[in-house]
Amino acid sequence: MKRRGYIALMLAALMGSAGLGVGGYFWSVGHVRRWTGRPELGYVGCNHCHFVSLEKMPWSHPRPRHAAPAGLAVTPDGTRLFVALDDRDELAEADTATRKITRRVAVAGGPFGLALDPTGERLYVVCRDADRVAVLDTRDLRELDSIEVGTAPVSIAFGRTPAGDRLVVANSMSDNVSVLSVAPLEELARREAGREPYAVALAADASVAYVANRLAIPADYLSRPDAELTLIDPAGGRILARHPLISAHLSEGVAVVPHRGWALTPLIQVRNLVPITQVVQGWVMSTGLAVSQGRDAVTQVPLDEANAFFADPAAIVVDPAGQRAYVVSAGSDAVSVVDLDKLGHWLAHADAATRQDAIHDLSLAAEYVVARIPTGRNPRHAALSPDGRALFVSERLEDRVLVVDTASLQPLGHIVLGDGGAADPIRRGERVFTKAAHTFQNQFSCRSCHPDGHVDGLSYDFDGDGIGDNLLDNRTLQGVGKTEPFKWIGKNPSLEVQCGPRFARVLMRTDPIPPADLKDLTAYLESLPPPRWERKQQLELTPAQERGRRLFFATVTPAGQPIPRDRQCHTCHRPPLFTNRLLSSVGTKAPTDATDQFDAPHLLGIAHSAPYLHDGRAKTLEELWTIYQTNDLHGVSSYWSKHMLNDLIEYLKTL
Ligand code: HEC
Ligand code: HEC
Ligand code: HEC
Repeated sequence: MKRRGYIALMLAALMGSAGLGVGGYFWSVGHVRRWTGRPELGYVGCNHCHFVSLEKMPWSHPRPRHAAPAGLAVTPDGTRLFVALDDRDELAEADTATRKITRRVAVAGGPFGLALDPTGERLYVVCRDADRVAVLDTRDLRELDSIEVGTAPVSIAFGRTPAGDRLVVANSMSDNVSVLSVAPLEELARREAGREPYAVALAADASVAYVANRLAIPADYLSRPDAELTLIDPAGGRILARHPLISAHLSEGVAVVPHRGWALTPLIQVRNLVPITQVVQGWVMSTGLAVSQGRDAVTQVPLDEANAFFADPAAIVVDPAGQRAYVVSAGSDAVSVVDLDKLGHWLAHADAATRQDAIHDLSLAAEYVVARIPTGRNPRHAALSPDGRALFVSERLEDRVLVVDTASLQPLGHIVLGDGGAADPIRRGERVFTKAAHTFQNQFSCRSCHPDGHVDGLSYDFDGDGIGDNLLDNRTLQGVGKTEPFKWIGKNPSLEVQCGPRFARVLMRTDPIPPADLKDLTAYLESLPPPRWERKQQLELTPAQERGRRLFFATVTPAGQPIPRDRQCHTCHRPPLFTNRLLSSVGTKAPTDATDQFDAPHLLGIAHSAPYLHDGRAKTLEELWTIYQTNDLHGVSSYWSKHMLNDLIEYLKTL
């Protein structure tokens, strides 16, 4: 009897919880219908809309900080090397003879780029996270002065013009260049550059500053993307010329060649509109060098060979004699040595048509690339001693600077800054992310398309279904953690699937990334925060942004018309991530698309990831509701005036 009673109780409990379960299921379905305004979704996990907070995101947790070298500067007497350590908010000084660290000081705000004045007395430090230039006295490394510049400055150059000493600063996130006078320290001009100005070099007579921009300027749908080399007059800050770099991006360096009047810009020649199945033919991307001779003539020549690619060119330096250029390859861990006499000879004898097609001719590099020097992981910056005898290369993901003897091209040793961080899964994951060795013949790395985990601003033809079909706009990985499903069509449930089998099949054409590396890679991706999220949280909205915010959360029009739940922005772009992680149809299906259901993208940092929509058809945020306005399917916008649209965009920029 006792036993029977027990069974009856168990049965009742089971049935009760099943009933609750069924009831719970129906409640949930009804609840989701109510809050999405859509009938067809069925059961959706509660955490799509609840229990989400920015503080709980993996990227908001503290992470280990590394002594990763960024910008380098050698003193005019060649005895000391300064190294910017952005991740640690530090600056290190090393003795170039002993290769030992002599001093370390704190410099607030992510010191990234360095420039010395010709006397070696003043060191100018651009701090990427604090939007400032700090002036340091090189005797005691004390900070003497500081000035605000544009957003996320990464590079700085000093020049002595007839009008006075000048500093030219590349502001990578505000897409402009600051021209500063030195005495007094003042901003004279701020000029629009291309997209993501990243490197600056001045002609020897300081008559022109060359600014390399990292990304291509958003192009019309299905048109060729071009980057820009911006030429600025350092004395007055005028724009002198804008040289298009054809089908190019990821220019992270620029150098002026003494005695020849050239500027050299490493670049990736990208063929994003060609189906990516052409990897094996080397037709996805390759590395090149843009040679600017005078104001108009730019020739793009290859740095790769038919069977060996040197992915992700970063810095470039040229020796004082103007005879050799050294280009570091951040993805292939190598320095390419270019003989400029040989390059000059080739240029002098090639006709216009040959020059125009040169970049595609992978047999050409043998004419002028005379050596490849292996380096440690992820070389990103470089500097030469004033006599050109020693080359310093920052091995960013090893926490070291490699010193090379340029006569023998042999390593002399290392300046060790940190322990390499191999115990940190995030650091290990970044190594996987930046390494080209995972792709066929080292052609590219994740970073080639996602520099700093961000976008390259390009749309790719990932399928082999014909040229121009199913283009897919790149997606930012900054803030991607916990926003599954992934891909525009939401097909991938986890980062492991996204970056493992999918990447291997479509892009690498080699073996998939091993499981342990994949785990580290995921840790790295999840550690990437949306740009400046903490600071943005603290900013107060301007009146225009506040009006835009009210539009975003509007449930009725000013005329009193209710806006259906499934067309209110905040239903799909639900704070705090500004996504409900569900697929929706917002009327954006193109004739070439297989589906009209797309993943609601999170909107944190949205201002920086143009172009927009799954195929990148919208060049700007405005175009979403002007050119590509979809009959009120993507939010109700037909009642907006031009001013209301402007307000909404101003609000979106604060996310
Ligand atoms: C598609 C988004 C979405 C999903 C999924 C969702 N909710 Fe909600 N829920 C909301 C919204 C919107 C509200 C209104 C209050 C708010 O904005 O938080 C809400 C409110 C609630 C409330 C307060 C009472 C009410 O109905 O207003 C409870 C309780 C709740 N949700 C529980 C759940 C549970 C449990 C689940 C999982 C089964 C779930 N929700 C899934 C969007 C969602
Ligand atoms: C050739 C350029 C290219 C390369 C190389 C590349 N990606 Fe992507 N990535 C893209 C594009 C384009 C998309 C959007 C594709 C889609 O949605 O179907 C994307 C999407 C993603 C997403 C999904 C983001 C989201 O919000 O859904 C992740 C994660 C990602 N990439 C990680 C990586 C990693 C890790 C690597 C290296 C193993 C890598 N990517 C290499 C171009 C590239
Ligand atoms: C029904 C759900 C839904 C509603 C309502 C909605 N969106 Fe979207 N939103 C999406 C989807 C899905 C996409 C991706 C569409 C595509 O790529 O074709 C998107 C794309 C976007 C993008 C471009 C993101 C990128 O990375 O390219 C922005 C910006 C945006 N929405 C803002 C808004 C605003 C502002 C509103 C209100 C006026 C709004 N959305 C209303 C679902 C929605």
